[in-house]
Amino acid sequence: MTTKIVFLPGDGVGPEVIGAAEAVLAKVSEQEGFSYAAEHHAFGGAAIDSHGDPFPTETRAACLAADAVILGAVGGPKWAGGSVRPEQGLLAMRSELGTFANLRPATIMPGLEALSPLRPERVTGCDLLIVRELTGGLYFGDREEGSEAALDTCRYSRDEVERIARIAFDAARGRRGKLTSVDKANVLATSRLWRSVVDDMATDYPDVTLDHMLVDAAAMRLVSAPTDFDVILTENLFGDILSDQASAVAGSIGLAPSASLGSGKGGIFEPIHGSAPDIAGQGKANPVGTILSLAMALRHSLDQEAAAVRIETAVSKALADGHGTFDLGCSDSTKEMTAAICERL
Ligand code: NAD
Ligand code: IPM
Ligand code: MN
Repeated sequence: MTTKIVFLPGDGVGPEVIGAAEAVLAKVSEQEGFSYAAEHHAFGGAAIDSHGDPFPTETRAACLAADAVILGAVGGPKWAGGSVRPEQGLLAMRSELGTFANLRPATIMPGLEALSPLRPERVTGCDLLIVRELTGGLYFGDREEGSEAALDTCRYSRDEVERIARIAFDAARGRRGKLTSVDKANVLATSRLWRSVVDDMATDYPDVTLDHMLVDAAAMRLVSAPTDFDVILTENLFGDILSDQASAVAGSIGLAPSASLGSGKGGIFEPIHGSAPDIAGQGKANPVGTILSLAMALRHSLDQEAAAVRIETAVSKALADGHGTFDLGCSDSTKEMTAAICERL
């Protein structure tokens, strides 16, 4: 059966970085000798414009049938005040595809410590993985909109915590064996449930060292001692915030990839950044986060580990050779950076 890859360029810099990932996939598939069928569908603000819906029926059907979905980004000022927002499409897709586990690595590549805004001695060896719960919590709770008062509710069930914690424990087992569960158990009931579920599971993982950290302290540790972390397990909103912070510690949000996985084989793969309206259309967005997300798709959903490693190695080489976009203090355009990576595949 042909491997089916759905590209959702979305809004702002989305189409620019998706173009970069497609160029890399075209080359790496030839080198590794595999074929695939690519489709493109409307999503986000672009789909509101064309279909009146950020996640149109045909896009939904294509994503459900895909082996992997590669997404650029959604959102932008054009749709911010509307009754339907691009971000609702993203949340609907994550929920309907059941991708409850969002993996967001933040790694300083050896020799590239200077990319970090932190002092090199602070970040040398920084290699952490945020495991973010993606289909629960405040993002999916009951909501009441109002001009005088508004309400968002946060709910987690034992099952929801268990399945994401299992992913994080397993990830820690395959890495340096350290798991930090981040919550706000001194205030939130959901965090106290979270902590007790994670503690219950620890007996299944005697080889993993578990600790708990309050989210405010974790934000502080992430910049004062980022190398202390191996795997961070946390709920949806905390993971959203901490992953942007971790990406900056590792150099730039433009470098950061993610994989959103569920119980099946497919997944959604997207850079963690947004549509970057401030630089959209200028051809200067950093494509690396999207290209590394493609590598995660090849590894996690498409059985192409060799292709994933080839891409990751080429990205490291291009950066080590001094290539980079403006956010890294370099001058490559999106296309030049992509070409530099393709040459090194
Ligand atoms: P953003 O991530 O789009 O941008 C934050 C900053 O990072 C900006 O200065 C931007 O120029 C920079 N940046 C982002 N990506 C970059 C890249 N590839 N290369 C270089 N610099 C990059 O966040 P924002 O401005 O807060 O949000 C803009 C819109 O994107 C909003 O509508 C938001 O909802 C949406 N958003 C979407 C996603 C997604 O689709 N997964 C993620 C985050 C934000
Ligand atoms: C992300 C984004 C999304 C999130 C928004 C656009 C809904 O910030 O993927 O990190 O908060 O999950
Ligand atoms: Mn985010």
